[in-house]
Amino acid sequence: MLSQETREIIKATVPVLEQHGTEITSVFYAHMFEEHPELFNVFNKANQKLGRQQTALAQTVLAAAKHIDHLEAIIPNVNQIAHKHRALGIKPEQYPIVGENLIYAIRKVLGEEVTPEIINAWTEAYGVIADVFIQMEAALYQEAAWEGFEPFKVVRIKEESAHIKSFVVKPVDATQLKPVVAGQYITVKVHPEGDPNDMLRHYSICHTDVSQGIEFAVKRDVQGDVKGAVSNYLHDRVKEGDEILLSAPAGEFVVADTDRPLAFISGGVGMTPVMAMLHEQAAKGKDIKFIHSAYNRDEVPFKDEIAEFHHKENVQFYFNYSEANGRLTKEKLEKILKGSEEIYMCGSVGFMEGLLATLDAMGISRGQVHFEPFGPKMSITV
Ligand code: HEM
Repeated sequence: MLSQETREIIKATVPVLEQHGTEITSVFYAHMFEEHPELFNVFNKANQKLGRQQTALAQTVLAAAKHIDHLEAIIPNVNQIAHKHRALGIKPEQYPIVGENLIYAIRKVLGEEVTPEIINAWTEAYGVIADVFIQMEAALYQEAAWEGFEPFKVVRIKEESAHIKSFVVKPVDATQLKPVVAGQYITVKVHPEGDPNDMLRHYSICHTDVSQGIEFAVKRDVQGDVKGAVSNYLHDRVKEGDEILLSAPAGEFVVADTDRPLAFISGGVGMTPVMAMLHEQAAKGKDIKFIHSAYNRDEVPFKDEIAEFHHKENVQFYFNYSEANGRLTKEKLEKILKGSEEIYMCGSVGFMEGLLATLDAMGISRGQVHFEPFGPKMSITV
């Protein structure tokens, strides 16, 4: 339990952190990796280069500091992060490493401004925040379908679109797979030859039916000069018959029970988790609007599966091709959505931010909107 004095110090330092938040976390990462280079085996090096992860951590620390009197307010965010931490295999004993380096960075960036009282307050507060994560993650480790990373054999690889491949994998040791919930992801661990580190990435599962194995989809990631190390490795090097390591399905982006009609909105490879949701919810007879935005028709994945739904009266499809028609605008969505739908959406961070702003402008309550960006959720600023 934090003392009143500690809480006051934390709240008073929030504006300073807001000013220096990203700088503090940048120093934090640089120092932590210098001291603990083994952590490159779990952190995504590309995220460090592009600054996304820095923003996500800064946002989370600030959110926690702002709510230090009632930390339960950040539980939904902690839940989403805890799922990712569990999937990556983050352990309680690693939390002090993050804490020590965060305090180091606060001291380094704020310099003379930082008093021993501030350092003590943040040390204590970090401990309390870390405990919230550790407890939530302990429950997720208990529920996980298997422990750590297990070998899986790749039994089928299919080109789903110009840049997306799906992979079906089966456990090497013939373990019976447990059912997965639509919207969840698996985490792949690979170690490309010549690279010093393991690389971990999350990929959404396409199907809840695991009778033939777990199916997940991977988009070949290329952003300017930066080529996604794992997605390009999976596309170019992994063949049917190869083995890869997977941790158990994770994620809280799942469809809740509701009497409302459903709308699934996706951009690009963001179709993957909502495709699994479509299978799951269409089978229950739900009314579904399935809205997808892609650059053009060649970029649309899962065309064969979409065709299977064409005769189903409860599912309506809408495609937006940005090459010819631009983005999914308010005008376009107003023609499709009634406003009463429970909405699930997935795509890049930018796509999510654009859609959230559009749905806000349409007067749709945030309570009806559920989303998962491909990228840190806490870096969403809308
Ligand atoms: C991801 C916050 C502790 C390792 C994340 C994300 C956030 C976050 C916001 C992004 C989640 C997303 O993608 O949506 C925190 C906070 C912590 C904490 C507030 C402490 C209270 C730790 C610890 C480790 C760790 C102790 C391990 C040393 C990771 C890794 C990722 C991640 C590897 C994936 C991102 C990447 O690969 O770049 N964390 N985290 N975190 N966290 Fe933590």
